[in-house]
This record gives sequence, structure tokens and C-alpha cells, in this order.
Amino acid sequence: MSERPDGRKFDEMRDIEAKVGVIEQADGSAMFRIGKTIAIAGVYGPKKVVPKHLEDPEKAILKCYYDMYSFSVPERKRPGPDRRSIELSMVIKNALMPAIFLREYPKTQIEVFVSIIQADAGTRCAAISAAAMALADAGIAMKDIVSAVAVGHVNNEIVVDLNKEEEDIEGTSDIPMAYMPRMKKITLLQLDGKLPKEKLRSAIELGIKSCEKIYEIQKKALKGRYKLQGE
Ligand code: CDP
Repeated sequence: MSERPDGRKFDEMRDIEAKVGVIEQADGSAMFRIGKTIAIAGVYGPKKVVPKHLEDPEKAILKCYYDMYSFSVPERKRPGPDRRSIELSMVIKNALMPAIFLREYPKTQIEVFVSIIQADAGTRCAAISAAAMALADAGIAMKDIVSAVAVGHVNNEIVVDLNKEEEDIEGTSDIPMAYMPRMKKITLLQLDGKLPKEKLRSAIELGIKSCEKIYEIQKKALKGRYKLQGE
């Protein structure tokens, strides 16, 4: 089969939209949409650590909370945290942490809340891309932006940015990736399913190339906001 279910090319991502400054009450915020998947991130801090015993005298602690709206998916999800959201919160935190100069903010916490308001696969990656922009929007010192997308193996082809329909195809494997484009470092690499060994490298290369494209979109959104403030 040479076509993807929605007619995209193998190396073509869905339509992407990125915006910063979407939550007035937050210190930094962003929206990242890829196809029908929409993530909204709010960053609060650096601020006093609660509870205080978690405080680190050397650096800030990063807390991430991933949440999916009940009606973000076709089959209503029970509200509140579940095993999946707890795991994804940790995955997102680990993907963002290498990009932040946490030692600049000892004895503080930085909280990142990400809500998935609509889900059509790839939500952890959309969450990471949104959160990285929100952190930058909050003025937190960062080595780099983190850009994220899933690559995978669908119908015997390496493809980027799987939608739910592709994820559900028998034999599909899904590889969520996060990447710091300036540092050229991968901060998240997961593999769900099986993939011939020789194809893994080309999948990762496609992921990196796609993250570089996402990075340009994130930068543009951040620059747009900066200009607006200066006007
Ligand atoms: O979203 P992501 O691909 O990062 O993680 P996943 O756990 O592999 O979930 C894949 C997709 O399954 C989500 O993006 C949703 O579209 C869907 N899903 C759902 O329909 N109902 C849930 N309770 C959880 C996920």
C-alpha cells in the first residue's frame, strides 16, 4: 500500500498551528495543534516549593501534569488522573528537563500543566511541544526548545505523525520522539510495537527532520508574541 489513510505523504505531518500567550493567568502558556490533536500548556513559576520538604537547595524542581478532557476522545474518558496520565506526566517531564537551566532557580518549583482538549493520537508529543513553548514564554532560562512528534511503521512504511486511524492498524509500531534541535539531542524515544532493526534508524532520522520543522513553527510563534509585546 503506498497511500496513507488520510492521503498524506509518508514524511508529511498533519497541519500544525502554534500560539503562545493563550492563558492570561499563567506565567507562560501555549497552544499546539497537530491535525485534530490539540494541547494547551500553562507554566506557573518559578515559585515557592509546596510541600516544602521537596525543595532542592541546588535547583528548581519541575512538576508536570498531563490531563485529557473527558470528551477529547470518542469514548468518554473518566475525569481525573489515571495510570496513563500519571505515566505521560512523567514522560513529558523527562523530555523537557534536559532543556531547562534548573540550577538557575534553586529552592523553587516550576509547574507545567498540559490539557489535551482534543485527541487524535500523538498527544504526548503535542503536549511536549506546547509545554516547551510555554516554558520559553514564561521566560524560564532554557538551553533549547524541545520539539516532539511520533514516527512509526505503518503498513510496512516508515511514516511521521500517525493519526489514530494509523495507530489502530494491525502491526503498527509507534515511536514518540522529542528532540532539542540546536543541541541535536534526543530527549524522548519510546517504541510501542515491533520494528525491523534496520528501519529504526531511518525512522529516527525522519523524526529528527520533522522535529526541526516543528522547531521553526514554535520559534515563529514565540517571535510573534515577542514582537507584539514590544509594539
Ligand atoms: O496520545 P499518545 O499517542 O501520545 O498516547 P497513547 O496512549 O498511545 O494514545 C493514543 C491515542 O489513543 C490518543 O491520542 C487518543 O487519540 C486515543 N485514546 C483514547 O481514545 N482514549 C483514551 N482513554 C486514551 C487514548
